[in-house]
Amino acid sequence: MSQSSGVDPAKLAAAQAAVALVEDGMKLGLGTGSTAAVMVRELAARVAAEGLKLRCAATSQATADLATSLGLRIESLDEIGWLDMTIDGADEVDPDLHLIKGGGAAHLREKVVAAASDRMVVVADPGKVVEILGAFPLPVEVLAFGFETTRKLIRRALDELELGGHDVMQRLRGSDPVITDEGNLILDLHLGCIPDAPALARALAAIPGVVEHGLFLGMCDLAIIGRKDGSVIQL
Ligand code: 5RP
Repeated sequence: MSQSSGVDPAKLAAAQAAVALVEDGMKLGLGTGSTAAVMVRELAARVAAEGLKLRCAATSQATADLATSLGLRIESLDEIGWLDMTIDGADEVDPDLHLIKGGGAAHLREKVVAAASDRMVVVADPGKVVEILGAFPLPVEVLAFGFETTRKLIRRALDELELGGHDVMQRLRGSDPVITDEGNLILDLHLGCIPDAPALARALAAIPGVVEHGLFLGMCDLAIIGRKDGSVIQL
């Protein structure tokens, strides 16, 4: 049965429109976050109602647990090999479909899965659509080894890009560090605005202690933005 009461109608509209793109026999990547969770529930409802045969890989342990609890069988990305489509949420979407992701600290696996997909579809509510990326703090997954050194190198890279002076904060849950599914730590870069996202992406990727940043540039093929009235717009 499809979910309805208590679910954000904008997220539900986006999720339903994305799940409508799913065809029998597809190999799917399942994203992480609250919107992706709505999508996973819709997908499970369609599979139960229509008996679709799908193969699914999850972008986080949380999504794998949710999907499994709803009767979807999760396989590893390597078992499936290549995916037809990944459906995921985002923290920001700009007019070129460049994204900030990682609000749920899952952007490393999300990027690995999206990069192994023919198509990446983002599901989001209108609050995620921006003219320029950067109001949402940019998540960067970093190794615990040399953590403070990596933070210094990130600050230096930001200075060189004239983005210096902004907070580079370790993400905490209460007073404990957030640990990702891969056992790493998260730094959130409070930049306000990212005028040249490709330059920042290159600079971060060049720092050895950076495992992956949350800029998804040129990866998203379609963004489905749900609205509270149940309609959607596609970017
Ligand atoms: C997790 C993500 C999420 O997709 C992103 O944070 C959006 O989450 P939500 O739908 O809960 O707003 O990138 O790492």
